[in-house]
Amino acid sequence: MCGIVGYVGGGSVYNVLINGLKRLEYRGYDSAGMALVSPGGDLHVYKAKGKVSNLEDFCADKNLEAVAGIAHTRWATHGEPSDSNAHPHYSEDGELALVHNGTIENYQLLKDALAQHGCKFHTETDTEVLVQLIEYIRTTNECELVDAVREALNQVVGAYAMAVVEKGNPDTIIAARKSSPLVVGIGDDETFLGSDGTPFIEYTNKVVYVDDDQIAVIKRGEPLKLINLKGSEEKVNVKKLELSITQLEKGGYPHFMLKEIFEQPNTLTDSIRGRIVEGGRRIILNGVMDHKDKFLNANRIIIVACGTSWHASLLGKQLLQDMCGIPVEVEYASEFRYSNPVITPRDIVIAVSQSGETADTLAAIQIAKSKGAFVYGVSNVVGASIPRETHSGTYIHVGPEIGVASTKAFTGQVLVFTMMALAIAQIKGSMEQKDIEAVAGCLLRIPDLVKETLRLNDDIQRLSLIYTYARNFLYLGRGYSYPVALEGALKLKEISYIHAEGYPAAEMKHGPIALIDSEMPTVIIAPKDHLYEKIVSNVQQVKSRGGSIIAIVTKGDTTIRELANHVLEVPDVPECLTPLITSIPLQLLSYYIAINKGKNVDMPRNLAKSVTVE
Ligand code: M6R
Repeated sequence: MCGIVGYVGGGSVYNVLINGLKRLEYRGYDSAGMALVSPGGDLHVYKAKGKVSNLEDFCADKNLEAVAGIAHTRWATHGEPSDSNAHPHYSEDGELALVHNGTIENYQLLKDALAQHGCKFHTETDTEVLVQLIEYIRTTNECELVDAVREALNQVVGAYAMAVVEKGNPDTIIAARKSSPLVVGIGDDETFLGSDGTPFIEYTNKVVYVDDDQIAVIKRGEPLKLINLKGSEEKVNVKKLELSITQLEKGGYPHFMLKEIFEQPNTLTDSIRGRIVEGGRRIILNGVMDHKDKFLNANRIIIVACGTSWHASLLGKQLLQDMCGIPVEVEYASEFRYSNPVITPRDIVIAVSQSGETADTLAAIQIAKSKGAFVYGVSNVVGASIPRETHSGTYIHVGPEIGVASTKAFTGQVLVFTMMALAIAQIKGSMEQKDIEAVAGCLLRIPDLVKETLRLNDDIQRLSLIYTYARNFLYLGRGYSYPVALEGALKLKEISYIHAEGYPAAEMKHGPIALIDSEMPTVIIAPKDHLYEKIVSNVQQVKSRGGSIIAIVTKGDTTIRELANHVLEVPDVPECLTPLITSIPLQLLSYYIAINKGKNVDMPRNLAKSVTVE
């Protein structure tokens, strides 16, 4: 989703901004632009529809001399992707240029009021309304830019991260946030701004996470100042950015997605490190231990998430119920927030989000907190909004996930849920110690077993050629394999644009079975678990209707081999750990089908990595 970069300092402003925009490309966007303030105070805005490389081409013959600048990648919400709707937006008098992520909900009201004062608008965006409002206040009140921004933001309803520069004020950026991420990087006599730390990681690892309702005053030669919407100064907490530049590179792989799939043995090891100790006898999750009483006394757990994180949450439900005996519900965050949920102080709400910035999940957290629930976060991005907004939590620690299609974050989330369930079971005594040790011991072997599963790569690549031009796919699973089926279908549809549906296998006969014919491949996730015999009959039902079957089975399975058209054998693990293994071939299958179709797997159309608007 939209990304912001900013820079004030003695380096090449243009280079910092353009390279910063390239780093933010993974978030998804459809146009890009920048505003540069020259040493003499001139303000220039350059923008272009499409890729950052289009902006680079556009800027090739422009005046790029600058001491400060802001830049933006836009993911269209109000108004189509176009040069004119791209950010930054000028105020009508050309004195200000502003970039903005998020949505100004009352923009029409503000626009009408400004129009009555004679303001003219040139774009369909809510962002132009914000810059015009700031400029109207600045000129009417004859005040400093920072005061105009503060006054304007007090009138705005909605979500934003914004940055604004001013003609004649060559070394200042004013930036602010509410429900949309914004990070300031502190260098030596230079200051950076980003939607996350990726645009400036090579320059500094000192960061300040701007909080909701804070305004950052960035001035060359002066320390960063944070003020709140009432105008009082707030404390600046400098943190260390947990990110390295090699994590942002493809490391020899053709795509981030493939790199991230193959990284999983390492990311799972990183996630386990220091958490499963003494060979599996103890599970240490500080986020759980520090709030033991909450977990011991919980009436119910409600998990809120979106997309892939929601699928991981369905597995979290099974793990927590099976191991801890606590009732668990899983809700789409977008539905939960508008459902008038009944929550009591003895409920625990777990919010799951790779990016830690998903707007619906953040809103669900606020509702849960307002009703007195204890809120626990499961996130990947250190310092993101969700870990900061929750009472406690666990990072999945799988490193930056750049590919839009979530892979290593999914297995990281499932792993964290498994460790959480074991940790809670240990403090509750809901599982026998020997059973905890058996599962935890196997978890320690999971990274190696994932590595073994990845050896299916070449078989899957060959298999993908047979199904590249299928128009529909069905994914079926039962028990722990049902959320894996949902996730497999999502992976395929989001990067190959093939319609795919995930279903609990037994539900097939209540409708989807009508779809089955020789044109409809069915992927069946059928490891040897307590539902194995049941799924064998589902395989037979598909076969007897002429459907072609790709089955993910446990090594040595002969029964399904005789029924399916293709089998992919995976290592045998305890039932509750099967998703960590069976999801791997599905990730590879969707990757290769999309590649065969020539799709951009890392940046699929219309999708954003970090969904910071509703
Ligand atoms: O950052 P989050 O985990 O909160 O994102 C939620 C979804 O947008 C995300 O999981 C999405 O479904 C994936 N990109 C799919 O691969």
